[in-house]
Amino acid sequence: MLGKFRIPQKEELVINAEVSAPSNIALVKYWGKKNFQYPINPSLSLTLKHAQTKMKMQAHYREGFQVKVFFNGALTPSFHQKIENLIQVVAQEVPWLLHYQYEFHSENTFPHSAGIASSASSMAALAKCLAQMIKVNCESELSSSALSYIARLGSGSASRSVYAGYALWGECQEEYSSNDYAIKVKNIHPLMKTLKDVVLITDSQAKKKSSSAGHNEMDQHIFKDARITQANDNIKKSLTFLQEGNWRQLGELVEREALTLHALMMSSQNYFWLLSPASLEIMNWVAKIREVEQIECYFTIDAGPNIHLLYLAQDEEKLKKLVTEANLSLKMTLWDEGDFDE
Ligand code: PMV
Repeated sequence: MLGKFRIPQKEELVINAEVSAPSNIALVKYWGKKNFQYPINPSLSLTLKHAQTKMKMQAHYREGFQVKVFFNGALTPSFHQKIENLIQVVAQEVPWLLHYQYEFHSENTFPHSAGIASSASSMAALAKCLAQMIKVNCESELSSSALSYIARLGSGSASRSVYAGYALWGECQEEYSSNDYAIKVKNIHPLMKTLKDVVLITDSQAKKKSSSAGHNEMDQHIFKDARITQANDNIKKSLTFLQEGNWRQLGELVEREALTLHALMMSSQNYFWLLSPASLEIMNWVAKIREVEQIECYFTIDAGPNIHLLYLAQDEEKLKKLVTEANLSLKMTLWDEGDFDE
């Protein structure tokens, strides 16, 4: 997948990179894995513009593979394993990556555990750093799909963060889709390029269960087959709605997807729940806003209690006012938008 490489030359004894990568919010959710890091069902996401991981890498050509990670300026050993793992997996195709010692400095433009997938942006940023390493020794520039492939090996959802706009990961009826990497969704109606997202943060505590443990619950899940059928069907419908600019139908589908994700968690063998009373309060409020104010806004939820509210740019001012006046149980709000810069 990653092409042919020569071994590093003397002038490449130190390789530096400075990159940033965005997070994304899934509209059709990836939940459940097969064969190491393939999804059991395809997923579709919107890349967020302002939620970014900024990462600097310094790699020295030295004996003994080593990784050091600094997060917000402090040495963070808890991040070492995940990063080391990804480099080791990529090194199965590019063995000389293990001849370097690495130092990473990273920070997020959004608060930790804010309901924004930091693994998506951080693994996409790491993939960009590794692409920089590979580029100096590669016969040609790495393609976006190769970058997405590397990011996917770190975290499935990160494969989608390589593209602006909407991204699709996982084999489905779409001709070019793949389990190996995500692709950019084309043919988007202009209205769907004005989609915005505000994260209504009710809780900034770390998750009660890691997404890896959650994915594993799908292996034996009683609703597994039905979920795979539903997700494939939802992908097909979403692509049509994006093309037609049918926000109402897409919004309803997106809410159904979020509720399905959490229903799957709650009906797992080792069941668990991440929604809190505040999450339900906000979901009820969103339904009320739609009915009373006639604003087309819909929620989605990642693996946590915080609620993402998706809406069209034309409704932003009204919504900002309504959120401020609503007196909801909120710790913070993060206003973001789809990244449609090509
Ligand atoms: O990429 P992971 O392994 O952190 O899994 C992400 C799973 C969800 O965020 C719940 C859904 C998704 O598609 O992003």
